[in-house]
Amino acid sequence: MVRKIILYVVIVLLVGLSSGNAILHDYGDALAKCILFFEGQRSGKLPAAQRLTWRKDSALGDGLDKGVDLTGGYYDAGDNVKFNFPMAFSTTMMAWGVIEYGKSMGPELAHALEAVRWSTDYFLKATATPGVVYAQVGDPNADHNCWQRPEDMDTPRTVYAVTQNAPGSEVSAEIAAALAASSLVFKAFGDKVYAKVLIKRASEVFEFADKYRGSYNDSIAGGACPFYCDYSGYQDELLWGAAWLYKASKKSVYWNYVMQNIISFKPQIEAGISEFGWDAKHAGINVLVSKLVLNNTMETSTPFLSYADTFICSLLPDSPTNIVQFSPGGLLARQGVCNLQHATAVSFLVLVYARYLKKSKHVIRCNDKIITQRMLVVFTKKQVDYILGSNPLSMSYMVGYGSKFPRRIHHRASSLPSVAQHPDHIACKDGTPYFLSAAANPNELTGAVVGGPNVDDTFADDRVDSSKSEPATYINAPLLGLMAYSKSRSSP
Ligand SMILES: *[C@@H]1O[C@H](CO)[C@@H](O)[C@H](O)[C@H]1NC(C)=O
Ligand SMILES: *[C@@H]1O[C@H](CO)[C@@H](O)[C@H](O)[C@H]1NC(C)=O
Repeated sequence: MVRKIILYVVIVLLVGLSSGNAILHDYGDALAKCILFFEGQRSGKLPAAQRLTWRKDSALGDGLDKGVDLTGGYYDAGDNVKFNFPMAFSTTMMAWGVIEYGKSMGPELAHALEAVRWSTDYFLKATATPGVVYAQVGDPNADHNCWQRPEDMDTPRTVYAVTQNAPGSEVSAEIAAALAASSLVFKAFGDKVYAKVLIKRASEVFEFADKYRGSYNDSIAGGACPFYCDYSGYQDELLWGAAWLYKASKKSVYWNYVMQNIISFKPQIEAGISEFGWDAKHAGINVLVSKLVLNNTMETSTPFLSYADTFICSLLPDSPTNIVQFSPGGLLARQGVCNLQHATAVSFLVLVYARYLKKSKHVIRCNDKIITQRMLVVFTKKQVDYILGSNPLSMSYMVGYGSKFPRRIHHRASSLPSVAQHPDHIACKDGTPYFLSAAANPNELTGAVVGGPNVDDTFADDRVDSSKSEPATYINAPLLGLMAYSKSRSSP
């Protein structure tokens, strides 16, 4: 037995050495850390069990001027605004990860549930008034103009709401999706009462989103754009919300909604067929619904599978119709801000699609080439491993994972001294020297994955370059599922 294990270890080492920079990653460690990151983003009153103890209570008056309690939720990224649209997407993604891979999370499952609940508790507050959905807290211009700890904030905590007369179908429907997906999480993992509260609220919020159609772009002018402008329209969120509500409630009204509107929203859905992220849910809808379609053998009569296949064909390097760029080191590489959000969100979808296709007879054809489920899994592993350090710089893009990781992340709380070290108030502009400093951040935001390298695999670790060095909840959220899956496949 002992000899067998030694032999196994030797083989693993040899295989590792022979394939260049193939490192054996500790996915369990990465899973624990990518969840821990969310504690660093917490807004509101922190619980006694808070593990990132350099963070303290903050924004305890959110909503007060409107007579509502909007404390809690997550700061979005390296700033201190609570942008509910991307926050809801991050929640939906965390929940989806737990739904598919929660059983592989081991002791981290409890932390994953806490991370989801921290959002859903907040969204229950943000949707407690019928006919109103609170869409955001914090004036983004004032906030971005200061380099200040959340514990010190003295910028306006402006509350933005969408209503019947000033609708916001995308933010409302994404919150509905988050609540519905999370209800499945709590139904499966131990809190059926809470699950019922979530699904009930999800259906109410969805009805509001659908009945009063419009974009929050217009309704909360100056709040949404140019920060989290809804470029892709709200039709994708309405379909996505309905698909999640069907999955969670099994009510035929939602299935009928999806089937009817995949036709009426056809131009919008086809325009974004390969997109997936906090703004565009298109590819996510098709993968999510693919499972229901596969299960019901309705394959030929609906477009979801062919849409999902188009997404795969546009993406995979093995596909002859691939249109997506990759860095020389193999990372999915899109120009612009925060590239790793695409790598994590898209990889999660590809992995889930492979899972849904398992045991089905469906074959993905990209022109004359067949894409196997194995190719999907290999693709996601390449992206995950790249993020953890299998890349030309041997750099982990997850803070605190491995020995070489970003030290100067664009994050106010992480880069300013903690309240324990420096109890005195740090005013808006008094944070600037810390922002500009070449020193490493004093507080480790463990598990934060940053925007990532340039398209040529280089990385400057520069706090000022937010497009590369800023973490965000929606970069990390898809990693819960990805890491749990990777962990389950890597233990001998
Ligand atoms: C939101 O605003 C952006 C920028 O002005 C615009 O490109 C986009 O089409 C708008 N979206 C909707 C749904 O109106
Ligand atoms: C798929 O079908 C199986 C067996 O008929 C059923 O138990 C399961 O609930 C179905 N799943 C979905 C998502 O409809």
